[in-house]
Amino acid sequence: MGTAAETMPSWRTIESVVASACRAPSLHNSQPWRWVLEPEGLTLSSDPDRILPATDSFGRQMVVSCGAALNHLKYALLEHHWDSVIERMPHSANRECLATVAFTPTAEVSESEISMATAIARRYTERLPMSAPTSWDDTLAQVTELAERAGTHVEDIGDRARPALEAMSLRLRGLRRENPVYQAELRWWAGHALYPDGIPSAALPAAPPGTVPVGREFPPGTATCDPGDLEDRAAILVLTTGSDSRLNWLRCGEALSALLLACTARGLGTCPVTHMTELGETRTRVGELLEGDGLPQVLIRVGIGPRAEPLSTTPRRPLSEVLFRDRSEA
Ligand SMILES: Cc1cc2nc3c(=O)[nH]c(=O)nc-3n(C[C@H](O)[C@H](O)[C@H](O)COP(=O)(O)O)c2cc1C
Repeated sequence: MGTAAETMPSWRTIESVVASACRAPSLHNSQPWRWVLEPEGLTLSSDPDRILPATDSFGRQMVVSCGAALNHLKYALLEHHWDSVIERMPHSANRECLATVAFTPTAEVSESEISMATAIARRYTERLPMSAPTSWDDTLAQVTELAERAGTHVEDIGDRARPALEAMSLRLRGLRRENPVYQAELRWWAGHALYPDGIPSAALPAAPPGTVPVGREFPPGTATCDPGDLEDRAAILVLTTGSDSRLNWLRCGEALSALLLACTARGLGTCPVTHMTELGETRTRVGELLEGDGLPQVLIRVGIGPRAEPLSTTPRRPLSEVLFRDRSEA
């Protein structure tokens, strides 16, 4: 058996990699995760206080968000020369426990792993219209492999299905404008500037025509683009899983993180889109647009964004609210 130094990164390293993990995307920037450092490694749990019941009634996107954080953690650890040994859905008295992560030192970290890790700080959600991605065949081959490695599947339904998706999205926006509970939740989380969670108005498009038809409707923000760049030509990917188990949701989040980081490393802008997969009827309709028979979980727009950097970085909660040390055996 190795010594503690060989099996456990320092506390400073743990703080650094968990901070990177928390740069993962999450529904409305709800950051529904909780990390505990135990003698054997890190435990990741979902935080049910951060579920968004009107938007995500089954907690599916809460678990997907945690999966994204788990995969971000894996690459952040590699950058520090630590490999992770992940057990998903371990037996635990804690019903929210999603994974445990043990560590082994590694000298071998590939260039592509480093580029995924360094993409963490640059990735952000681009909600403005984007141009069509360049070198798309290569990107598609890479993201397809990354999705399969996580036990999920990705399909590019861009131009073929764009008109149907746009029509569905616009109809759904209308329905949701009539839903006061959904609207109250959306306005609680989106369009503010003061909190370490939620979506600041700088990350939201200023009223139409800057909004993208296949995207979710948010309260108007302050992000704008050139009037010549209003048509969205982003590719549209759909991440699917074989079933709706919590394990598959977690794996879907891991795949989502991997896809977003790979695209960011290639200089592409990305935006997860989930309003159409939240409701049974539109989710079924998205499924019918696919060639495969998987369950649609998350759509992802990928393109060339109107700017190299976000106007402002969407904030994150302080580490003291999400990372804890289990001192029970100390
Ligand atoms: C499960 C999930 C669902 C999301 N759904 C949407 C969405 O429908 N529309 C959108 O614009 N962003 C969506 N996002 C992106 C989040 O709003 C974004 O990650 C969060 O605000 C943090 O901002 P950042 O990604 O720029 O760091 C989603 C992210 C996740 C993980």
